[in-house]
Amino acid sequence: MKPFQRTTRPGLRELEDLAATIQASAVSAIGSDPGDVSAAAERHRTMLPEKMRSALGIFYTPPDVADRLLDDLGAAGARFDGSQVFCDPACGGGAFLLPIARRIVQRLPRSEDAAQTLARCLIGIDIDPGGLAITRAALNALAREWFGTVPRWNLRNDNTLRLAVEGRLPRADVVVGNPPFGRVRLSDLERTHFAGSIRGHANLYGLFVDVALAISGGLVGYVMPTSWLAGDYFAALRQLVATERPPTSVRFIASRRSVFMGVLQEMCLAVFGRTQRSVLTVFGDVDSHGGLTTRLRGAGPWFIPRRESDALLLSAASGSRYRLADYGYRVHTGPLVWNRHRDQLRASPSRGTAPIVWADAVRPAEQVDYRRSRRRLLHLMVNGMGHLLLDRPAVLVKRTTSKEQRRRLVAAPFGDPPAMVENHLNVVTSDSGAASVPVDLLCALLNSEPVDRIFRSLSGSVAVSATELVALPLPPPAALMRLASARNPDDFILAAYLRN
Ligand SMILES: C[S@@+](CC[C@H](N)C(=O)[O-])C[C@H]1O[C@@H](n2cnc3c(N)ncnc32)[C@H](O)[C@@H]1O
Repeated sequence: MKPFQRTTRPGLRELEDLAATIQASAVSAIGSDPGDVSAAAERHRTMLPEKMRSALGIFYTPPDVADRLLDDLGAAGARFDGSQVFCDPACGGGAFLLPIARRIVQRLPRSEDAAQTLARCLIGIDIDPGGLAITRAALNALAREWFGTVPRWNLRNDNTLRLAVEGRLPRADVVVGNPPFGRVRLSDLERTHFAGSIRGHANLYGLFVDVALAISGGLVGYVMPTSWLAGDYFAALRQLVATERPPTSVRFIASRRSVFMGVLQEMCLAVFGRTQRSVLTVFGDVDSHGGLTTRLRGAGPWFIPRRESDALLLSAASGSRYRLADYGYRVHTGPLVWNRHRDQLRASPSRGTAPIVWADAVRPAEQVDYRRSRRRLLHLMVNGMGHLLLDRPAVLVKRTTSKEQRRRLVAAPFGDPPAMVENHLNVVTSDSGAASVPVDLLCALLNSEPVDRIFRSLSGSVAVSATELVALPLPPPAALMRLASARNPDDFILAAYLRN
């Protein structure tokens, strides 16, 4: 069976099989200018099939972003003078190794020995032979220019995660890079190896943080999605870094730049490895210098403000002990995966059908009316699916929004049971009499600006999962009772959090 015929969540073996099909391109014409090398890497990337790029997490770091992370590492104590070994365990086209080499050569004499010193300072590993060939060609060009000779580089075409499981990782002083991300399936042996950093689903970038801590006892600087800061699946990872290598700085990358990098998630530059605990410096973007400081509480979730005006709210939210469960609510995903039940979909109601609530029928705060959907097939022949019908009032929350949308959370009250809820919606329900906050108030809360700001720091992606809704910190229920008559609901909700 070819890789990816079976599943969209590959295992490590499938990633290896896939990478083995990549042909290294001809790269002899590459020089040592980071802009040119980045353009060559980009050409290589665009020649790969989309499925391969996304499975291997191949997108390359622009030179200015790489430089900023190296500066942040320098500020945390990394030395680019030939005295430290730097390892990029997913080095791609050399977006980090090349600028590190360019910094180091400035501090070395122009001799053959110095070329060997430079080679000892750099370790690169990548599963993609194409990316690695670009790195090698760029380093060759730099060494020829500076030293008139090309040393033997420590560049390996390998699966870093396999090296970790087999105890064959190199050692270095500093780990730097932009590891791949995406969920991955692990064998029992692999899961046991990474047990300290996984909770539930394994994500490639979490595994690469684990790997970095094994390669270096010192500094680590990574480009990463921000979901690890507060997401539930990353609790074990946060615990691990909080204990072993607490982060010293996090720099959020503005969304226009993430889009330019081809990423849909919010990204950050994180430096780990400080000795002083629980204080983190947060920077707004790649160009910003002044940073906020924030305290990290244990293994989190770490609600980290992206701007100064959020600091008070997020600090209050992270101290809140109230969640939807404390309001008497449960969350599940809408059960109807329509394409599995095509033959049960109907355009008009008849005996044995129930209305379908599609996601496009949900508009913020308006009572849900399933007939507002632009879909043609609004009814389902229920057959044996009666137990999946929504049979009570609920709050429906969209599971995806677009990046430009003003709010991540789009919630609407549903009061017209029974109905079948489609899979692009979350369903927030309670047993009768269990809810301490009525459905309408809960909707107003979820649609408010303060809750949206908290949610953004919890999630970092455009998806809204049931797990994240369950983890969302809320104000004490008693503080919300007069929300319906508040003149400014956002201010009222902010005050409710701060009173916590
Ligand atoms: C996001 S790209 C970053 C590349 C480069 N560090 C940069 O910043 O431009 C991730 C890289 O990880 C590599 N990769 C994915 N899975 C890997 C694995 N298991 N072992 C080693 N490299 C891997 C991909 O081939 C890709 O080059």
